[in-house]
Amino acid sequence: MRETTIFYVNGERVEVNGAEVFLMLANWLRQQQSLTGTKIVCAEGDCGACSIMLGIPTASGALKYEQRNSCILPLFNLDGKHVVTVEGLKQKGELSPIQLSIATNGGSQCGYCTPGIVMAITAIFEQWPKPTEEHFRAGLSGNLCRCTGYDGILRAALAIDPTKIRALDTLWDLPEMKSELATIRHDPIAIKSDKLSLFMPDSLAKLLQIKATTTEVMVVVAGATDLGVGWNKGIKKSGQFIGLARIPELNKIEVKDDLIEVGANVSLSQFEEFCNQHIPAIGKFMELIASPQIKNAATLIGNIGSALPIGDALLFLVLLDAHVELTGTKGTRLLSLNDYLLRGLNQDELITKITFKRPALMARLRFYKVSRRRRLDRSIVSAAFLLEQEQKAGHATISKFRVAFGGVAKSVCRLANVETFMQGRSLSAVTIEEAAKLALEACTPSANVRGSRQYREILIVNLFKKFYAEMEIDR
Ligand SMILES: Cc1cc2nc3c(=O)[nH]c(=O)nc-3n(C[C@H](O)[C@H](O)[C@H](O)COP(=O)(O)OP(=O)(O)OC[C@H]3O[C@@H](n4cnc5c(N)ncnc54)[C@H](O)[C@@H]3O)c2cc1C
Ligand code: FES
Ligand code: FES
Repeated sequence: MRETTIFYVNGERVEVNGAEVFLMLANWLRQQQSLTGTKIVCAEGDCGACSIMLGIPTASGALKYEQRNSCILPLFNLDGKHVVTVEGLKQKGELSPIQLSIATNGGSQCGYCTPGIVMAITAIFEQWPKPTEEHFRAGLSGNLCRCTGYDGILRAALAIDPTKIRALDTLWDLPEMKSELATIRHDPIAIKSDKLSLFMPDSLAKLLQIKATTTEVMVVVAGATDLGVGWNKGIKKSGQFIGLARIPELNKIEVKDDLIEVGANVSLSQFEEFCNQHIPAIGKFMELIASPQIKNAATLIGNIGSALPIGDALLFLVLLDAHVELTGTKGTRLLSLNDYLLRGLNQDELITKITFKRPALMARLRFYKVSRRRRLDRSIVSAAFLLEQEQKAGHATISKFRVAFGGVAKSVCRLANVETFMQGRSLSAVTIEEAAKLALEACTPSANVRGSRQYREILIVNLFKKFYAEMEIDR
């Protein structure tokens, strides 16, 4: 196993060892590399000021670049990758067309958010050769400008000539770098220091061997978006960590008949892309989750690992009766997501897959998220509905009804009493009103900084009404 982390920054090779691999990239860039173009404001993934581009080797040898928040990106997750910071965008010593447009079209006031905005626009051009205004709005959703210069930023973005943009893979076409990154990208890693150790094995079998050698807790690390925020907020970083990023068998999304299986390394972005093709209603809902920077790093299974009461992925997974595959030193078992949320996993286990059945084509699915901001905000209350109807004696009757709510109990929950009540009835304003009353009986919302108990109760009723109104419009 390699005992050092190797990556490149703006074309320069770097090796980092020991406890330093746990530093966050943004701090390391600013304090140890004097690359102060990258800013730190919130240090919790919320504002985008620290955005950088990360080049990840593909099977063809080219690097695929995506934007990340460097404030919650530990150095160990950079191994085998190329970091491009705002300093690395210059072309022959000149500003890139994106930087130039921001400067000349009033896209910057105090300038603190500007490097992050430039990186986000760079990422949009990496993804879309001719981005539209909607692409810019969505792609910039992870970047806050406290001077509220959004009009200027959008104007500057729309003024950029796409033919002048050079893809980062051609701008940083360094054969030696690409060849080394392609060679080392699956190397297993073991880093040890006084208080911390980190193992990043290259197969599940090796991970289980490592787990079998210790009775100590080994914290599983995937995208580190939740763990990273915790570490920045002072949660103690000590003990043993085991990283999943280099285990190829956890990278897959597989479709077996109507069963969908998602591996532990699949990011929220990859899952969103899959859903856009296969389950568009979930793809559309995924647009409301976090930001592009977070979704590129965060995994779907990490969202379950965190088991937040308002976990948005939990919402549709609970609705679709998902199961988790738990793998440990004593073997593999499948557990319903509900049971997992109630009981958790054993110390020697990790979640290797999540599986769920693709909803029937006739099923009508709706997902709602109420939050203070449309994007990049956690839910106050979220709701998911699935409706299937059949014709009985000339009337449309409900043959399947499922409903799940987030933010109204200790965890995301299904409302079994409502589901039983709806079975075999006709969908009408009266039925929905009764269903909403039953929902209030089943939910136990409490107050927190995002909203009072009463507010949440009003939302529960209103989301039932919204669902009904949409079903009527689509009839
Ligand atoms: C700025 C910001 C905005 C966000 N917005 C939203 C939002 O709108 N909606 C929403 O639902 N979530 C949101 N999140 C939460 C985010 O989706 C989760 O943090 C993410 O999915 C966690 O994935 P990860 O791979 O980064 O997990 P990590 O941070 O690596 O791990 C999170 C937890 O899960 C455990 N874990 C990870 N993988 C496994 C595994 N395979 N087996 C067992 N345990 C495991 C870890 O030990 C840890 O306890 C947001 C987070 C941030 C930072
Ligand atoms: S500093 Fe705000 S997202 Fe990183
Ligand atoms: S220009 Fe001041 S924060 Fe954006």
